[in-house]
Amino acid sequence: MRPPDTFNTPRLFARRPRPDDAPAVFAAYASDPTVTKYLSWPPYTEVAPLAEFLQQRMHDWANETGHYGYLLCLAGTDTPIGSIGVIIHGNHAVFGYVLGRAHWGRGLMTEALRYLIAWALAQPAIFRACAFCDVENPASARVMEKAGMTREGILRRYHVAPNLSPDPRDCIMCAKVR
Ligand SMILES: CC(C)(COP(=O)(O)OP(=O)(O)OC[C@H]1O[C@@H](n2cnc3c(N)ncnc32)[C@H](O)[C@@H]1OP(=O)(O)O)[C@@H](O)C(=O)NCCC(=O)NCCS
Repeated sequence: MRPPDTFNTPRLFARRPRPDDAPAVFAAYASDPTVTKYLSWPPYTEVAPLAEFLQQRMHDWANETGHYGYLLCLAGTDTPIGSIGVIIHGNHAVFGYVLGRAHWGRGLMTEALRYLIAWALAQPAIFRACAFCDVENPASARVMEKAGMTREGILRRYHVAPNLSPDPRDCIMCAKVR
């Protein structure tokens, strides 16, 4: 079971990463400390390690590891402005996402997440579509709720956000199930 290689929403085109994407991803979001504040990785300071990371995501697609990462482009363009990924763990689908700051607040990530939640819960083997975010990241929690997930609770000391602290922090878990 794997998601489609590409998908479209009214305003977005999502596709697999390519070897030449690293400079655009670096410029759009991966080097921005405001964007990465609550994420599990520090902002990139060079393009080369980011290119390596994207190679790993390409490898995941090619080898069906259960981790499928998309780059998000505005509809009608091919330049990445963000990313959304799904990891399939048994009958759960777990999502993660990030968007370039220039595009925040227009409902774009909600569109992408809504599409992938619908895809996941249409798979006979998947019963739970979920995501979590730092307790201090209300924009992300709001995206999950707007995309149809329900806030389930706080997972204490669940996730390390290395840009904030080496210690694991409390997270909000949201899910949609069928
Ligand atoms: C989280 C993120 C993906 C949201 O993407 P987006 O396309 O801007 O999201 P949307 O426009 O669909 O929705 C954002 C919602 O959060 C709300 N919001 C934004 N900042 C907020 C804040 N400080 N407090 C409360 N709500 C906030 C917006 O008002 C909007 O809700 P509304 O439509 O009801 O007004 C984007 O901000 C991002 O990439 N952040 C950095 C990376 C990140 O945190 N990723 C998630 C990791 S779990």
